[in-house]
Amino acid sequence: MDLRGKNVIVTGATGGIGAALCAALVQSGAQVLAVGRNPARLAALAESQPQGRVVTVVADLSGAEGRARLVQAAREQPAAADVLVLGHAQSAFGLFGQHSAAELENVLHTNLVAPALLVHALLPVLTQHPQAAVVAIGSTFGSIGFPAFAGYSASKFGLRGLFEALAREYAESPVRFQYLSPRATRTAFNSARVDALNAELKTRSDTPEQVARQLVRAIERGDLRRQLGWPEKLFARLNGALPALVDRSLRAQLPIIRRHASSQAPATFEEPIHEPSSR
Ligand SMILES: NC(=O)c1ccc[n+]([C@@H]2O[C@H](COP(=O)([O-])OP(=O)(O)OC[C@H]3O[C@@H](n4cnc5c(N)ncnc54)[C@H](OP(=O)(O)O)[C@@H]3O)[C@@H](O)[C@H]2O)c1
Repeated sequence: MDLRGKNVIVTGATGGIGAALCAALVQSGAQVLAVGRNPARLAALAESQPQGRVVTVVADLSGAEGRARLVQAAREQPAAADVLVLGHAQSAFGLFGQHSAAELENVLHTNLVAPALLVHALLPVLTQHPQAAVVAIGSTFGSIGFPAFAGYSASKFGLRGLFEALAREYAESPVRFQYLSPRATRTAFNSARVDALNAELKTRSDTPEQVARQLVRAIERGDLRRQLGWPEKLFARLNGALPALVDRSLRAQLPIIRRHASSQAPATFEEPIHEPSSR
């Protein structure tokens, strides 16, 4: 899809990846409807871009009222949206038994139920065009069930399943369903404890700007699915084909993961965070 002149809705626009994506989309010639909960951060995002290229909607998408506000704003835009990017999400790091029921409900609802309901509500807007796209920002943990990210992994596995089914159901329609997965990215999404775990596991990571550039390229190409980063691409495939191999590798890392994930773990990490390893 040529993004010049296209109208793109971006949820999670105030986040690390979302803000970089909005900038990259504007750079590619698109007009953005940016969605987030924080009015000040949304205003700063709009002001950082050329006048009028980013308009904003304040909406908490975990609730019906916030979703209705977004749908209403999308309907009231001078031109119908061509692309919907679902980039908002909640993180949930910790041992499963130590999460509260409310935390688990929130991560599943925000990351999976809300996107499904938004796609359902916005499809009539998107199908006004001969070509449209719905893009889910997934995660490596949507392909690899990762210890201490069980609720988050479940939400992203669900999102991947939703998009795979929709891509197949709408294969003959003008709407493309794209599930695009960043690997670890250096944003506020990851708490100090997650950063510490990633550093000890030597997990490779990207900047939000690197991710945004790859997302824009994938939207332009129309990729139905894409895992960003190497070796994450390999591990995601390996987990699908030979999960017992990944079981063994994660079993070896479990003591480290449990140490960082336990509610007894220190909440801050004061050593410098390692640069992505070359392993
Ligand atoms: N960072 C990583 O390591 C990483 C890796 C793989 C995948 N991802 C995925 O990439 C996407 C963006 O992550 P990020 O790193 O940019 O995270 P981030 O900086 O924490 O941003 C998260 C965004 O989601 C929004 N959001 C959260 N809950 C919301 C709700 N109930 N209603 C509306 N908006 C809500 C936040 O809005 P507010 O400003 O209002 O809080 C913010 O704009 C997510 O889908 C995440 O799962 C991230």
